Amino acid sequence: MKNEIGFEMAASNIRFGPGITRELGMDLADMKVKHVMVLTDENLRTLPPVHTVLQSLEDAGIGFKLFDRVEVEPTDASFKKAIEFGQSEPFDAFVAVGGGSTMDTAKAVNLYTTYPADFFDYINAPIGKGKPVPGPLKPLFAVPTTAGTGSETTGVSIFDLIEMRAKTGIAHRYLKPTLGIIDSENTRTLPPAVAASTGLDVLSHALESYTAIPYQTRTLPERPTLRPAYQGSNPISDVWSLQALRMVAEYLTRAVEEQDDESRGMMLLAASYAGVGFGNAGCHLPHGMSYPVSGMVKSYNPDGYPVDYPIIPHGTSVILNAPAVFRFTAAACPERHLEGAAVLGVDVSNISNDDAGNVLSDRILEFMQRLNIPNGLSEVGYGSEDIPALVEGTLPQHRVTKLSPRPAGAEDLAAMFEDALNYW
Ligand SMILES: [Fe+2]
Repeated sequence: MKNEIGFEMAASNIRFGPGITRELGMDLADMKVKHVMVLTDENLRTLPPVHTVLQSLEDAGIGFKLFDRVEVEPTDASFKKAIEFGQSEPFDAFVAVGGGSTMDTAKAVNLYTTYPADFFDYINAPIGKGKPVPGPLKPLFAVPTTAGTGSETTGVSIFDLIEMRAKTGIAHRYLKPTLGIIDSENTRTLPPAVAASTGLDVLSHALESYTAIPYQTRTLPERPTLRPAYQGSNPISDVWSLQALRMVAEYLTRAVEEQDDESRGMMLLAASYAGVGFGNAGCHLPHGMSYPVSGMVKSYNPDGYPVDYPIIPHGTSVILNAPAVFRFTAAACPERHLEGAAVLGVDVSNISNDDAGNVLSDRILEFMQRLNIPNGLSEVGYGSEDIPALVEGTLPQHRVTKLSPRPAGAEDLAAMFEDALNYW
């Protein structure tokens, strides 16, 4: 087996600026689009971002239907509901207005209505068959209303597979939105708790992609089309990840506490920057471990998410694992962990490589405390007795866990979950 010899940078198309959502109808008209499926969730349906999008479509004379039943932390069942809606009329483009859940649902609708297949065909192996997307999809415009997932820049779509109580997804560069419309007017209504959770997702995306295994250490694929989207850290992703971290250090707290236009705009940009970074490098253990954490939720109902079912928001489930993970992974590439801490504002001039993991984790914990994130997995309902199941749920997440700079077996994962139960 030969090692990987190259990496590929799939650029993402984004447009940034306050008020640009009003241009969307003109974009679609210029593409000769006739009939659009607009996806959103029930809470956003009556709020300004959706209103602006629909007005813009009307002004441009574009026909549309609104699907407002996207679920926050979507499931295979809610994906299928949206796909059915997408099949019910001849839509020739899609517009997603919402957070990662809505954008990911729209990607799945675009895929399964363009190339109909058994639901498991495109799902990542080993849970699904992992078949590549056959070809380009229809236009999809993504209008994020949270500053977090970076889903507007990626070819990844994540959902909960109910029967396995696990998160999984579809990943292929053809899923990437045609254009991400990044408009700070669309996060004005974002509750502070959601800004905190999604903002810490950005922080973890950037740190995970920066500390992921170097791309040259993967195995060379047989054909270039088999080269995964998540390739490991590489010189181009590094630039985006580090810049995203700098922006998080400067603007995240302000975007949560003061919610001024500038800091919210910069966090939206940071989310996209991190999305370009991790969309090509990949995430690793904090995300891999987050999938069972949110998939096995018992009764947690977080502030800021008006849903009538228990959820652990994605960003929260990720950042709860992150300090434990970086303590574990630092031994593999301490310089990168120290660099991450430095970019987040720590003076590392007198810190030895042996302390890199603790120093970086302490800095993350400061953000978590300041932003009122729960103190470890115990505060969202887990105890030591749940760890075997959490480990079981992490092991199949190869797509991300194999990018960990330090390989983690079942015992390592159990030790990290134990460490993540309580932090302060
Ligand atoms: Fe994430």
